[in-house]
Amino acid sequence: MAGARTSIGIVGARGYVGGELVRLAAQHPRLHIDFVSSRSLDGQEVAAHVAGAPSGLRFSSLDERGVADSEAQVIILALPNGEARRYVTAIEAGTRPQRVIVDVSADYRFADSWVYGLPERFRDRLRGERRIANPGCYATAAQLAIAPMLDVLGGAPTIFGVSGYSGAGVTPSDKNNPEILRDNLLPYSLTGHLHEREVSRHLGRSVHFLPHVAPFFRGITVTVNLPLSAPVTSEEMGRRYERAYGLEPLIRLTGEKAPLVRDIAGRHHVCIGGWTAAEDGSRAAVVATIDNLLKGAATQAVQNVNLACGFDELSGIDHE
Ligand SMILES: NC(=O)c1ccc[n+]([C@@H]2O[C@H](COP(=O)([O-])OP(=O)(O)OC[C@H]3O[C@@H](n4cnc5c(N)ncnc54)[C@H](OP(=O)(O)O)[C@@H]3O)[C@@H](O)[C@H]2O)c1
Repeated sequence: MAGARTSIGIVGARGYVGGELVRLAAQHPRLHIDFVSSRSLDGQEVAAHVAGAPSGLRFSSLDERGVADSEAQVIILALPNGEARRYVTAIEAGTRPQRVIVDVSADYRFADSWVYGLPERFRDRLRGERRIANPGCYATAAQLAIAPMLDVLGGAPTIFGVSGYSGAGVTPSDKNNPEILRDNLLPYSLTGHLHEREVSRHLGRSVHFLPHVAPFFRGITVTVNLPLSAPVTSEEMGRRYERAYGLEPLIRLTGEKAPLVRDIAGRHHVCIGGWTAAEDGSRAAVVATIDNLLKGAATQAVQNVNLACGFDELSGIDHE
């Protein structure tokens, strides 16, 4: 059976996103895992580290040459920012340059030659594509929250974001240090965050982004302030979100009740709700929640693989 499936290699599989990708690829009806790479877990059984991984699968330590020489028809790069480019260069110089590459880092989110993989906004560009830059987690939630209001913005939206500490990856830092985070909320990169530039670029409007890390493990909540150029009622906001996303299986609308971050952990969709417009018509607000490791990374990467390979977009994503 495996021969009929598309083979996939996951680079950076020891990471939080990599682990989710292994789980999703293992249960995907159209994919077969060709390799999962980690330098530090080379040779170890993947199931010992990733619940849900197929038994018998082992990590291999592949450098860029090893990845380029692999048979995998699809490669997902789940490496820290700045590390993806040398793998892409090696694949493009190798014998199978035309295979599908989905990069979950930020390395190609600003590259004109790559397609930005936010299916709910750019689905038609992604079908059959071979180079896909997966969006950032905050950037996914923020763009989906702002997009239906773009034509009535009177200034730059402000995004107040709070992430669980898995957003900082496995490498120890203040942003995933339990001692620093206990009973705490850690502001960081309050101007010029990468996702501020990413959202501004892909919305075509400047935004202001104020990120924080909280002591919970997974999940993001963004509360967005929307300055308005013309008054919009809360009811009209509801109609806008319904028109934009009513048929989207991975976006759930919670109406004027704001979604809660604890409800999104382990789920494949984004929640948007809590929309409210100020009585004087000067501004509105909306809340979005997302699991940073799933729709913020791995689930979205699988959507993109599915679109690139011509599979059903939700193949392998158990989203009920
Ligand atoms: N965490 C999130 O919520 C999230 C959401 C959206 C996007 N992303 C993006 O997804 C990517 C992965 O994130 P993550 O949180 O899963 O990261 P992570 O937990 O820090 O994992 C990084 C992985 O890359 C490998 N690695 C580290 N340095 C490497 C190097 N120099 N060369 C080759 N491999 C290296 C590590 O394994 P070995 O050291 O064993 O090789 C590990 O498997 C990042 O670019 C991140 O920005 C993360």
